[in-house]
Amino acid sequence: MHLRTASLLAAAGASLAAAEGHQARQATPTGTDAWAAAHSKAAAALARLSQNDKINIVTGVGWDKGPCVGNTPPINAINYPQLCLQDGPTGIRFATSVNAFAPGIQAGSTWDVELIRQRGSYIAAEAKGLGIHVLLGPAPGALGKIPNAGRNWEGFGADPYLQGIASAVTIEAIQAQGVQAVAKHYLANEQERNRETMSSNVDDRTMHELYLWPFADSVHSNVASIMCSYNKLNGTWACENDKILNGILKNELGFPGYVVSDWNAQHSTNAAAINGMDLTMPGSDFNGRNVLWGPALNQAVNNNQVPRSRLDDMVKRILAGWYLLGQDRGYPAINLRANVQANHKENVRAVARDGIVLLKNSGILPLNKPKKIALFGSAAVVNPRGRNACVDRGCNEGALGMGWGSGTVEFPYFVAPADAINERARSDGTQVSVQATDSTSGVSNVASGADVAIVVITANSGEGYITVQGNAGDRVNLDPWHNGNQLVQAVAQASQNVIVVVHSTGPIVLETIQALPNVKAIVWAGLGSQENGNALVDVLYGLVSPSGKLPYTIGKSQSDYGTSVASGNDDFREGLYVDYRHFDSKNIAPRYEFGFGLSYTNFTYSDITVDSTAKAGPATGKTIPGGREDLFETVATVTASITNSGGVEGAEVAQLYITLPSGAPPAPPRQLRGFDKIKLKQGAKGTVTFNLRRKDLSYWDVRTQNWIVPSGSFGIGVGASSRDIRLTGTISAA
Ligand SMILES: *[C@@H]1O[C@H](CO)[C@@H](O)[C@H](O)[C@H]1NC(C)=O
Ligand SMILES: *[C@@H]1O[C@H](CO)[C@@H](O)[C@H](O)[C@H]1NC(C)=O
Repeated sequence: MHLRTASLLAAAGASLAAAEGHQARQATPTGTDAWAAAHSKAAAALARLSQNDKINIVTGVGWDKGPCVGNTPPINAINYPQLCLQDGPTGIRFATSVNAFAPGIQAGSTWDVELIRQRGSYIAAEAKGLGIHVLLGPAPGALGKIPNAGRNWEGFGADPYLQGIASAVTIEAIQAQGVQAVAKHYLANEQERNRETMSSNVDDRTMHELYLWPFADSVHSNVASIMCSYNKLNGTWACENDKILNGILKNELGFPGYVVSDWNAQHSTNAAAINGMDLTMPGSDFNGRNVLWGPALNQAVNNNQVPRSRLDDMVKRILAGWYLLGQDRGYPAINLRANVQANHKENVRAVARDGIVLLKNSGILPLNKPKKIALFGSAAVVNPRGRNACVDRGCNEGALGMGWGSGTVEFPYFVAPADAINERARSDGTQVSVQATDSTSGVSNVASGADVAIVVITANSGEGYITVQGNAGDRVNLDPWHNGNQLVQAVAQASQNVIVVVHSTGPIVLETIQALPNVKAIVWAGLGSQENGNALVDVLYGLVSPSGKLPYTIGKSQSDYGTSVASGNDDFREGLYVDYRHFDSKNIAPRYEFGFGLSYTNFTYSDITVDSTAKAGPATGKTIPGGREDLFETVATVTASITNSGGVEGAEVAQLYITLPSGAPPAPPRQLRGFDKIKLKQGAKGTVTFNLRRKDLSYWDVRTQNWIVPSGSFGIGVGASSRDIRLTGTISAA
């Protein structure tokens, strides 16, 4: 714990715990010892295995041939179980009595390290209770460079630092429960369209500073496994790419664990083996054919096409993950029907609630016992066909809780906006009239006599194997679905007090809505999963002050982002300039910037302190999991005072952005390199602390293939968003 913050424990509970977690992560001897112990157990076990056993350990049993989405056969010689791998990043897929957690993007939107940690811990507790050994998450691999890309909602936001911290914390929480985490999808899998044929052609610096970054943090947090993606990198499949698997992941990042293929992402027997893949899943294609390892690998080893030492290395890496997590000692048996819900829904509600971002409020919120509320939109109620009517959530009917695809979970219950608003209205004596459709006719009847009209609109996306209303995973545009703009326009003609609630997997263009003077508030409610309505009511009625901040930019038009879904290969020509990095460098005004969010109170920033020992030059440390050891050392600490100067208790996400020295290679004007969420009672003052690691001040130097802290004066900006910098300072590195 940082000394200066110690006395403020009461005021700053969450944020202090976050700071402690951050430091604990640095203080841990990086897990190298634990990995070494796991590897020596794995080596001892290896000696007792036949070649057939080894082939079985590295080859899934085939699609739909076991209790889990991925399975390998038990190996009796070493009491190795039938290994169970299961989706995914939002909770446990295909289970009956679990929680559907708030998606990654909502967790990112809270910017609350403790809630993110608890979320990971609870998901893993459910996984372990069901006997799942390997949880296929988190998913920092869609960074969100394309705002309409289908799977962005499974990750934590359009910034590598935010993705990196949230992934690291999630992995630590999952593995602290004894469950193996898998960071996915490696690498540069930024869209759904053509994901199984296209090549992501990313230059080396961009790859390191954006797409690889959260994976390096994941490896540093001792993630047991990394999942290689469907796409190619520079023309070579990710799952047989020597450079990204052997070169970058296993050598440069010192990854001691195993690379598992995405499901059916393997394309060859020998190249995949030689170039660094360790476990094939599900072991066949989705028709049960095309088994590329198993007997084929056995033959390749016998023919010396794949070295026997490579097979042994695969096995050791996989067994090391199992030993690292202590799964050799009394792990529960597989039972996906067990009830493991416990009290975890409290975290779902907290993340759903604290991830809500208040975008606009002309004094209409919080609500105070209105006489009559008119509520509009098909998304105000649970899907009339049933909350889980659509396989893998592949539709957009009724209230939206998460996107669609393999990263989904069955909802155990679903509280929609109408459910929660009705319940609250009963205790307030408020009359509620609901139009649970998106039709614009008849709106004025429903709105008549209401002192406030709430319109719920959505935008949805998901994984490319399901097409919903013409959207094959990626969204075809950034407009609200179901004519949401027209519905809001109609309601704004019938009411002077309109609140627009948006449930969405990512940004939408709000210009039509923004132009309506009768729209007095916009509540960006994101993806609240099963607690969708409860979380909304908590914020609408001021049970809490909203405290989420946007984990991406909301632009005024799609073209303002400078990226779009590629129709063939993607050359990543935008380089480092994605999301706010692009808006800032091109001086494009967004509608709502990255990091933005209002509250029911006000926060004043003061007293910045900067304490730095940063030295210019390359990283020199030995390689530990995650990269050179010194990259993870704290080289500067910045603090600032935050005062709650408004009328109610609230929480503020203070953010730190750096600007590289003028002599450094060209870089985005501002880059997120710290955040700290602090909860403060009315009138209270507290301290936010940002610990900058060496990597946070470094750029990737292509020539020397190393991270370098440039010499000169770094700009430090601390503020309430990427464009609301309240305090500035400098760090000099010589
Ligand atoms: C892809 O090609 C670019 C341009 O030559 C290069 O900078 C980068 O390192 C390559 N990446 C991989 C993974 O091969
Ligand atoms: C917050 O500050 C703004 C502008 O300074 C002011 O208009 C508003 O009343 C303040 N809100 C509260 C809750 O104090």
